[in-house]
Amino acid sequence: MLATRRILLIIGGGIAAYKVLEVIRLLRGQGASVVPVLTRAGAQFVTPLSVAALAGSTLHQDLFDLTAEAEMGHIQLSRAADLVVVAPCTADLMAKMAGGHADDLATTLLMATDKRVLIAPAMNVRMWDHPATQRNLVMLAGDGVLVVGPDSGDMACGEHGPGRMAEPRAIVAAIDAALSAGPLAGRHVLVTSGPTHEPIDPVRYIANRSSGAQGTAIAAALRDLGARVSFVTGPASVSPPHGVQVIAVETAREMLDAVQDALPADAAVFCAAVADWRVANAAGRKMKKQDNALPVLEFAENPDILATVSALHQPQRPPLVVGFAAETHDVIAHAQAKRARKGCDWIVANDVSPDTGIMGGNENAVHLITAQGVENWPRLPKDQVARQLAERIAAHLGAVS
Ligand code: CTP
Repeated sequence: MLATRRILLIIGGGIAAYKVLEVIRLLRGQGASVVPVLTRAGAQFVTPLSVAALAGSTLHQDLFDLTAEAEMGHIQLSRAADLVVVAPCTADLMAKMAGGHADDLATTLLMATDKRVLIAPAMNVRMWDHPATQRNLVMLAGDGVLVVGPDSGDMACGEHGPGRMAEPRAIVAAIDAALSAGPLAGRHVLVTSGPTHEPIDPVRYIANRSSGAQGTAIAAALRDLGARVSFVTGPASVSPPHGVQVIAVETAREMLDAVQDALPADAAVFCAAVADWRVANAAGRKMKKQDNALPVLEFAENPDILATVSALHQPQRPPLVVGFAAETHDVIAHAQAKRARKGCDWIVANDVSPDTGIMGGNENAVHLITAQGVENWPRLPKDQVARQLAERIAAHLGAVS
């Protein structure tokens, strides 16, 4: 899987940097190309000359290197890779990644990339065990960052314990696994997520309480199975996952346009909480208070994106169209009716009554409604619901292809 793949390799400042030279050699030996980026601290441990010579590629070091910018801008550099690898990834680099810093070339590339990121942490055992590092690790994992190691053992600083960078062969194996084809490799899946905002005037809008958490988890789970994911999201409160194509929209009509532009797809999952109505008489200028007169808002119905896409003909209609139904009573009956009314293939139904704690919570209890019947899934964390749904989609597409 490594042949012809392009790895952007960021070398952080740690004694383990010398082992990264071996990682470069192994990757190139398997046919991958390596574009190295050496941080200022990394250059204290390995020389630019040895990195560039082994990589057989231009070494990038400086954010404001005009020659390099003229050849390939740093945004393009961050996107031309198939995978971004940080090794050794120091405690400082982890903290900067978790905090979203972009104060040098390496951190700017990490912020600008739309590809998956794999880190190989390496640090003193106390630094690894420090609550701040462990907190950052949880945040990075939540952002979809992959982690290999660290190993446990004797360290250059004379201490013993976890913190030693994974061995080069383990790093290369993790890179291979990150790039390997999952069951959805070569498939394109579209996901809508989050709320929509419908303007009342330039400063006010109508919205809803959707956080985008379930749609984000579904996009990440589909990505993890190897799909190319187009993620059309309204103004959500959770960040979109890494490694997917993010198309940010505000209104239902913009969402419909973005969905239509992203087609065709092998499957489409409509998780967004789309506003059913927009303000037909939205003002072009800020509405001002007027004596004795309350503003009167007139509503117009928004397009139903799920129904519109379900009604398309192939090849524009995705072979599998999945809708969601958030209900507070008679969940299954309403969801079955919704499936028929909207013309989609599956409906994922859930009970969002306040006493379930599902809306805004971390768990979900769903029923999958298909032409074959109703499956009642157990109550699970939202990311597990996402994984299970992604696996079902992969199994379905595998079975029909
Ligand atoms: N949906 C959509 N476009 C809309 C409204 C809803 O694509 N304008 C999609 C949602 O993303 C979801 C499904 O339709 O997948 C069901 O949404 P829901 O709000 O539950 O359905 P409604 O059409 O609003 O039906 P009801 O009024 O019965 O709640």
